[in-house]
Amino acid sequence: MSPMDREHVPPAIRVAVMGVDGPATQPSPVAVGTAQRGVQRPDPRGRVVCVFSGKGGVGTSVVAANVATALAVGGSTVAMVDLNLQYGDLRLLFRLEAHPVSIDSLTRSDGHLDRQAVEGAMATSDAGVRVLLAPSRPDSSDLVTPAVLDGILLHLARAYDYLVIDSPAHLDERVVGVMEVADDILLVSSSGLTSVKDTKVTLKLLQSLGVDRDHVALVLNQPRPRVSLPAKEIERALRFPVLASLPFEPRMEAAIDAGRPLVLTEPRGAFSRRVKVVVAHVGRAAEGGSGRLRRPAALWRLRFGR
Ligand SMILES: Nc1ncnc2c1ncn2[C@@H]1O[C@H](COP(=O)(O)OP(=O)(O)OP(=O)(O)O)[C@@H](O)[C@H]1O
Ligand SMILES: [Mg+2]
Repeated sequence: MSPMDREHVPPAIRVAVMGVDGPATQPSPVAVGTAQRGVQRPDPRGRVVCVFSGKGGVGTSVVAANVATALAVGGSTVAMVDLNLQYGDLRLLFRLEAHPVSIDSLTRSDGHLDRQAVEGAMATSDAGVRVLLAPSRPDSSDLVTPAVLDGILLHLARAYDYLVIDSPAHLDERVVGVMEVADDILLVSSSGLTSVKDTKVTLKLLQSLGVDRDHVALVLNQPRPRVSLPAKEIERALRFPVLASLPFEPRMEAAIDAGRPLVLTEPRGAFSRRVKVVVAHVGRAAEGGSGRLRRPAALWRLRFGR
């Protein structure tokens, strides 16, 4: 399918076909922690953050893992879904290789999604991020249908302060379905020409989907030492402001080898400081004080009916 083909875009009013149980009898330890601290969410559901790049290898997963970890370190309850269903990297980035269950275990032919099953399938990172891992075999990715994913999103967004989605570098029905209801889309781009081109294409697609610019933030990441285009030129080319510019960090590979995101191992380093700019952006939005349009919330209601 051509990703840009509008007839393949899932209709906004696609309704989740599966039921979700009542409250989980075993809330996650992290969620209990938040309740004990008396944190009140302004919204009955948490904030859905979709991290995406039209080009592979630019650092989407690294950015997603660091943002989620920083949010968790800041005291929020955070869930992540590895939506890179064929070649997901969160298992590696969080050193969760030993966790035996992944997202494809949640597919049942009767279309029923059990909250406890979702919680039971999730692994927990060192910083307390609850992670729903990608299947260990690429050919299992088709088991995760858009309807299954809707049920998972609905549960996790209601149970956690933040739901961070690490997306693959291509658009399919599942990825577009997440973008439609995301409160924040973090578009990751490197400063290489082809990445900037793909970012431009993605921005146009989001516009054609009716996603408001206010819900999109551009994150420049430098996965290689050589910088191609300065941020100002990229902003001019894209006619879109850069929220944060994450520098090349030579210790990144060591952090990945250790399975500990840089915001944990180098919290005061330049990379982590810029990640915190992104976290502040997402956090400010969650407080509801930015006057942002409520389109995703309205779409969320249309799709999920609550
Ligand atoms: N700021 C950075 N400094 C140094 N290395 C980086 C940085 N960002 C990313 N990298 C490196 O780039 C590589 C790709 O990162 P990552 O896996 O996050 O990309 P991706 O966009 O998610 O790729 P994919 O399309 O395969 O999902 C990693 O090996 C990582 O070490
Ligand atoms: Mg990735």
